[in-house]
Parts: sequence; C-alpha cells; structure tokens
Amino acid sequence: MSSQRNHDGLVLVGTRTPYEVRKFPTISPEGDEIMVNVKWTASTPLDLHQADGGLLVEHPMRTGSTGAGIVVECGPGVKHFKVGQRVFGYAHQKPAWKTHQEYSTAPEWVWGQIPERFSMEQAVTLPENLVTAFNTISTDLKLPTPWPKPEGYVPPRANEHILIWGAASSVGQLTIQVLRYYGYKHIVATASSKHHAHIKEIGASEVYDYKSPTVVGDLLKSAQGRETPAFPLIVDCIGSQQGTLAAISKVAQSGSTVAVMLPVIVKHASDESAPEYSLDASTAVEWAPGVNVAGVRTHFYWRNDLFREKLQTEIMPTLLEQGIVKPNRYRIVEDKTLLERAEKALNAMREGASGEKVIWRVSNE
Ligand SMILES: NC(=O)c1ccc[n+]([C@@H]2O[C@H](COP(=O)([O-])OP(=O)(O)OC[C@H]3O[C@@H](n4cnc5c(N)ncnc54)[C@H](OP(=O)(O)O)[C@@H]3O)[C@@H](O)[C@H]2O)c1
Repeated sequence: MSSQRNHDGLVLVGTRTPYEVRKFPTISPEGDEIMVNVKWTASTPLDLHQADGGLLVEHPMRTGSTGAGIVVECGPGVKHFKVGQRVFGYAHQKPAWKTHQEYSTAPEWVWGQIPERFSMEQAVTLPENLVTAFNTISTDLKLPTPWPKPEGYVPPRANEHILIWGAASSVGQLTIQVLRYYGYKHIVATASSKHHAHIKEIGASEVYDYKSPTVVGDLLKSAQGRETPAFPLIVDCIGSQQGTLAAISKVAQSGSTVAVMLPVIVKHASDESAPEYSLDASTAVEWAPGVNVAGVRTHFYWRNDLFREKLQTEIMPTLLEQGIVKPNRYRIVEDKTLLERAEKALNAMREGASGEKVIWRVSNE
C-alpha cells in the first residue's frame, strides 16, 4: 500500500476558464523547508491577470502567492520555526510553495511568524505587498532599506517629494508606511477622496483625488517654487496605460524616476473581451526626455541577499509587531468549498476591491 499523502489545490487549466481542484502530493520538508497547512489566502490582482489574461501562465498551473497558516513539519536545517507556530508569507516561486493548496512546502525564508496579537486574517493581508514595497523602494527607486535601521537614521534624498499614485491600493499603503519608517516626510499621494483621511493617517503629507480632471495641474501647482523635477521619485501602484500612466507621464519631468507596477494594463477585461498587458512601461506612454522608467518585478526580490534572508522571517513580523505597518482592511469571502470560495473571490476582484483585501479560507477547517 502506498504511503503517499495527497492534498487539494487549485489549478488554472485555461484562460477565462474556472479554476479546478486537483490532488497534489504532500511533500515532506527537507533541509531549510517547512510545511504549512494553509488556512487563509488573500486575492491579488495577479490572480485576475492570470485567470482572465493568462499572464505568464503555462496551463495547468497551481495558483496562490500569499498565505497564512500553521507549521506542521520542519526540515532538519530549519532555524526559525517550530511545529504549531502561526506563519504568514509570500510563497510563489514553485508549484509546491503555492498557497491555494492545503499544504505548502517551501524554504523557511518565505515565511514569518505572526505576532501574537494579530489574527491570521489580518496577517495574510500583508506579505506580497510588503515585499513589493521593499523591493520597489530598493530595486527601482534605488533608496537604501538598512536593517536593522541605525539609531537616528536620516535617509538620502530625505527632503525630496515622493509621489505615490494609487495609494489606496495595498502596494500604495505599504509603500507609504515603509517610506515613513525610513524617514521620508514629503510623501504626496493620489487616491479616491473617501480614502484621503486614512492615507494621511498612515503617512502621506498631501493627498489628491486621481479622479479629478485637474489632478495633474494641482500636483504641479503644489510644487511651484521647488526645484525640478517637481517629483523626483514616483511610484505608479496600478500600472494602467490610460488609468494612471497617461496622467503620470504629464507629472514626471526630466530627472524623475518612475517605478511602475507591472504588468501595464493596456486594455482592461470586459465581459466580451480579454485584457491586454505589456511588460514595458517605458513605451506604454510618451515620457518627457530624461525620465527614468522602471518596471517593478517583485518576483525577483530574492536576488537581494538581505531580502531573501530577513525580509519575511524577521523584518515583516517586526514591523507588524511594532505597529510600523498596519494590516490592510479586509473583506472575507465565505462559501462551502475551496473551489466556491476561490471563484467567488475572483469575482470580487473583477468587481474591484477599493482600499481592502479580499481574503478567504484555503483549508476547510
Ligand atoms: N510587478 C509587481 O511586482 C507587482 C507586485 C504587486 C502588485 N502589482 C500590481 O500592482 C497593482 C496593484 O496591486 P494591489 O495588490 O495593491 O491592488 P489592490 O489593493 O487590489 O488595488 C485596489 C486599489 O487600486 C486603486 N486604483 C484602481 N485604479 C486606479 C487608478 N486608475 N488610479 C489610482 N488608483 C487606482 C483603487 O483606489 P481607490 O479605492 O482610491 O479608487 C483601489 O483601492 C496590480 O495591478 C498588481 O498586479 C505588481
């Protein structure tokens, strides 16, 4: 009789086709790996780009990049975790690591321990985009993120104005909180007006409504009297050709660096037609000469040694515990089965999440 253990996991089998549940082997951890019983996941726009746009997908593909759960087994070389601990992480690189399955087996460096006073539901709102925030600040804006942060640390470019476009997104909220932590004080943001109070509370000094027809003029006017470029560092937290880049290209001036969340959405999905994407933000719109455009690829954050070793095991739990980053607001999608919850969550993302994460249970119990 075979002793092989199996568990349920979601796969994408086609574009604009419902998920399927399949059985996968439950892999015992080796070396520095841990096995996590995944209790919760948070939907991301990438789930939608993959399901509806087939972005970078080879079918059939296991899905899920963010999870929170319980450690059930540890490899012999594991240093940070014990069986029974509650963990959260951004675990996406290999099929066995994915989080839309009951058990994920992955290296310990993609997980962190959840501080006691936070629930798994709160914790699961953070990992993917906290990693994105650090990676964007370091790799694309080229600002240092020293850890531990030295006492009295004053960052380079501390007095420059940083524009965070689409700040109500979870990327935006976490980027603002990490920039504030490192000492940046002139953070200017755009968001729908209903989110302005919250965005100020987490660290922006000024917030503008990106839906206002005068937003570009208002931003440039606010910078009158300053040296150019008005906004030397800009983060586009959305990456929509018409929805964000068209306006941002009018604010960016020679010398500005613009970090754009990829993919660039060239055409948004509708009931009748598939979305279209581009992975080149530098040609998506016409930029003023001298603007430096960087396309953010968080997928490769692990190439930074500090991030691989400490970002999730140490930095993420510490920032949460110390209240430096706050969990995102969230909405729970409930239903009887993994498949039903996953489909319902994807529909919630299609309708659009505003200022909140859509979270749902993976394992039934
Ligand atoms: N390449 C990478 O490494 C990487 C990593 C992470 C995320 N991303 C991408 O980054 C984007 C954001 O991800 P997320 O998880 O942060 O999304 P999210 O939290 O689901 O974003 C939702 C928010 O987006 C805002 N928004 C939508 N359209 C906007 C527009 N035209 N202008 C300004 N704000 C707009 C809305 O703001 P209001 O409520 O104010 O309307 C809403 O609150 C996604 O496209 C994702 O795929 C890329």
